[in-house]
Amino acid sequence: MHKIHPLDSEDLATNTSENEHFQSIVQRAHSRRGFLKSGVGLSAALFLAGPLAAYAKTQDKGDTAQPPSLLGFQAIPISTDDTISVAAGYSASVFAPWGTPLFTDATSWKSDASDDAAAQARQVGDNHDGIHFFPINNSNNEGLLVINHEYTTVEDGDYTWLFGANGTLPWTADKTAKAMNAHGVSVIHIVRSQTGTWEIKLDSKYNRRITASTEMMLTGPAAGNDLMKTRADSSGTRVLGTLNNCGNGWTPWNTYLACEENFNTYFGTTSGTDTRNAAQKRYGLAAASTNYRWEEFIDRFDYVKEPNESNRFGWIVEIDPFNPTSTPKKRTALGRIKHENAAYTLASDQRIVIYMGDDQRDDYIYKFVSEGIYQEGGDNSALLDAGTLYVAKFNDGPTSEAYVGTGEWIALDKTANAILAADARFTNQAEVLIHTRLAADAVGATKMDRPEWVSVHPNNGDVYVTLTNNDKRTIADAANPRTANIYGQILRWREAQGDATATAFEWDIFVLAGNPVKHTDRSNLKSGSANITVDNTFNSPDGLGFDKDGRLWIQTDGKYNNTGDYEGQGNNQMLCADPVSKEIRRFFVGPKECEVTGITFTPDSKTMFINIQHPGEAGNSHWPDGGKSVPRSATIIITKDDGGVIGS
Ligand code: FEO
Ligand code: CA
Ligand code: CA
Repeated sequence: MHKIHPLDSEDLATNTSENEHFQSIVQRAHSRRGFLKSGVGLSAALFLAGPLAAYAKTQDKGDTAQPPSLLGFQAIPISTDDTISVAAGYSASVFAPWGTPLFTDATSWKSDASDDAAAQARQVGDNHDGIHFFPINNSNNEGLLVINHEYTTVEDGDYTWLFGANGTLPWTADKTAKAMNAHGVSVIHIVRSQTGTWEIKLDSKYNRRITASTEMMLTGPAAGNDLMKTRADSSGTRVLGTLNNCGNGWTPWNTYLACEENFNTYFGTTSGTDTRNAAQKRYGLAAASTNYRWEEFIDRFDYVKEPNESNRFGWIVEIDPFNPTSTPKKRTALGRIKHENAAYTLASDQRIVIYMGDDQRDDYIYKFVSEGIYQEGGDNSALLDAGTLYVAKFNDGPTSEAYVGTGEWIALDKTANAILAADARFTNQAEVLIHTRLAADAVGATKMDRPEWVSVHPNNGDVYVTLTNNDKRTIADAANPRTANIYGQILRWREAQGDATATAFEWDIFVLAGNPVKHTDRSNLKSGSANITVDNTFNSPDGLGFDKDGRLWIQTDGKYNNTGDYEGQGNNQMLCADPVSKEIRRFFVGPKECEVTGITFTPDSKTMFINIQHPGEAGNSHWPDGGKSVPRSATIIITKDDGGVIGS
């Protein structure tokens, strides 16, 4: 028997009809905060009808007014096995694992991972994360698969798998170079054969490895600023490499966006003296040595020797995959944070809007609104170099109206924002962008529970974000409603009047992840919202992406010990949600000690590509090769056995 969930009873505690109830909530919330005059009106009231409660209500009452479910597959159970599992009627295969050669003259993968730096530079990198399929001539059978290689697994200076049989010690220049070549991005030309098998087109002119050594340009307002200049680059416009490319984005003009996340972890010092300034501490540079140990061989990773080098990382990097000789561009107008991903939408006037999260406990959500407009088939190459960067403030709803609220976008503009105009720490807009986090702190943005991926609904423009967890939170607020939040939540917002460039929005919480297996008392917020059940329980939502029909795919990067608070949750997984009913079903489970991340489709949505990252990060996997092999991150290709749309 279904028990009334506390969140249901709280939200439905009136005798008015549901719409009347929520309309009155929104009106009261508006009048308290004066949002009516900003034009957030009826559409928002409809958007907010039924926060957290809808799925349980649909189940209980058999509400026939709901549209048919978008979820056409049977949910699967958890798994703790060292393998992948996918819903019945689907097939999943391993593709382009770490070490796969991209050229006929490249060294073949060695199962003991003993390849050197030169070999790694011609092979697929490590720890796959963001991914995007760029079709060639809109084909469902041929395109460029672009993959981020976020990092390589290392703990306490000991690389877990990268050097395989060789081990981390002795630490050498070649091992440093191999680690750098395992980072970056792969551009891979792929083709589907007559038998339906996807293959890499070796030696394609498009095949390319971008690494931590590839030359790039800094563009936009912060390029050339004194804080960007180094001994190797007096212009402040040329930089070597991209680091820690986590999630990704893409643009309507067919470029790829690689997002630099934990760049700070590559910068330390061998000097024995902690000389970090306030900004370097805010971004988390290491006081002394780093886990990666690159600073021992390459001076630019030692912040005492080259204090400005770290300012040249933490950006969004635009890559043209169709021009293999193009120079990747770090777009400084989009701010310097620990970028998770970048999700675009086009405003009605064709300005491009890009939503972004900064993945750190108590950091922020941002959006960039371009100055120029997108021109289909035109030259959009400067579009990401001028615009306004905003940071989000989520206002609390009244306590009786939890999980619903209003919000505002605050411009991080040295001239237009009075707080920043008066703040002597920022001489000009370039410094606001280089120290985006400090500027966002100054204007009072809302500290979130680790913003990870953002995704925009393809039909209605609603924006969803994973807030993965925040076990250190001590003060709850409406948008981050749990202290010591170990499970995470997905929050969504709707821009005022559906205008992506608006500076006001309304939000609600789509799901509070939780564990009703462990926390059977559903008055405990740890049991999750009503759309969390013993059958779909998960923790730490991270990867997130809509398909073209509006299914919301949710990927996890959480605790996988399957005990205690995580009992009954198994390995990391991918689930699928219906945004209307809010029902969530488990679709896929990864191997031991991995995370599931990255999502893209062929244009017909009949082939899905996702990534398995860091299988065996704690040393306990031999996936996918089995035996005693070194585990490898890899792409997974999923198809439906009847040839249909994934998830349908
Ligand atoms: Fe690279 Fe925040 O995940
Ligand atoms: Ca992530
Ligand atoms: Ca994560």
